[in-house]
Amino acid sequence: MTRVFSGVKPTGHLTLGNYLGAVRRWADVDQRHSDALFCVVDLHALTVDHDPARVRRLTRQAATLLLAAGLDPELCTVFVQSHVDEHTRLSYVMECVANDGEMRRMIQYKEKAARERERGGSVRLSLLTYPVLMAADILAYGTDEVPVGDDQAQHVELARDLAVRFNQRYGHTFVVPRATRPGVAARVMNLQEPASKMGKSDDSGPGIVYLLDEPDAVRKKVMRAVTDSAAGVVYDREERPGVANLLEILAACEGGDPEDLSGVYESYGALKKDTTEAVVELLRPLQARHKALCADPAYVEGVLRDGAEKARGMAKPMVDTAYRAIGLLPA
Ligand code: TRP
Repeated sequence: MTRVFSGVKPTGHLTLGNYLGAVRRWADVDQRHSDALFCVVDLHALTVDHDPARVRRLTRQAATLLLAAGLDPELCTVFVQSHVDEHTRLSYVMECVANDGEMRRMIQYKEKAARERERGGSVRLSLLTYPVLMAADILAYGTDEVPVGDDQAQHVELARDLAVRFNQRYGHTFVVPRATRPGVAARVMNLQEPASKMGKSDDSGPGIVYLLDEPDAVRKKVMRAVTDSAAGVVYDREERPGVANLLEILAACEGGDPEDLSGVYESYGALKKDTTEAVVELLRPLQARHKALCADPAYVEGVLRDGAEKARGMAKPMVDTAYRAIGLLPA
């Protein structure tokens, strides 16, 4: 059986990008794999300036949205990272396998650190070591597949490198994981800045569709999406990123192909209108389930408690093995 692990960071409200690029596929995965794990990775939310109350709130909200998006706790394990100590236990050991140079080469680190320094702020050490913790998240569970959006490919690659290196040095311990990517809409772009992804941590609201946006808000954002000055609906990611993004979102919502869809539309207006409808319909059932789950917080807490217990049971033997292999004396 294939073991699947993925995580979502509670650094902002979940977006359409998170859903189409990752979470929606997770809901499919759990039908086939009884041991898929999906984690709200709250420790990762502490790597940048944060507000404790907000992280707590977003962690609960992300977990609730995962369940609303169709993850079935009978079929997969849904839990919060900080509830399972094995992640940080293993992370330290993996820091002893990783090199500082390869950490500094991570694109996301370079970008975020540069942005932070520009603002005159300091960079938390945990931002540098974050990919090691992510590798630990993955490796602790003997994960085969990591379904993530494109921007995480480099981090999963690092997890592979660390697994291989550990195994070579200390004996076979870890499964070497691989990233799996969605076909269409692997990377949903910001509607206002189609050159950058629709990230939940960015605060530029008008280009980001949040999963809990009301239909009216969705309509406004999609109708105001930046297209191009050129006329005609053409699918060309490089030259016409704004239109390509809308075509990909529409295709991802309806299960079509962006190239084929481009032939159906004569005007941007019609494309935007249909994209709005498709997104609103996509979000409707999810929002209804979210509302119902919010009315029953004890249920969500129970799911997370059971999830953490199950996750701990899976990770502990693996982390114990790694501790022994690297030379630590068993307690
Ligand atoms: N780094 C991922 C992101 O920013 C979140 C993440 C943390 C993750 N640990 C993970 C994803 C392990 C997959 C597997 O989206």
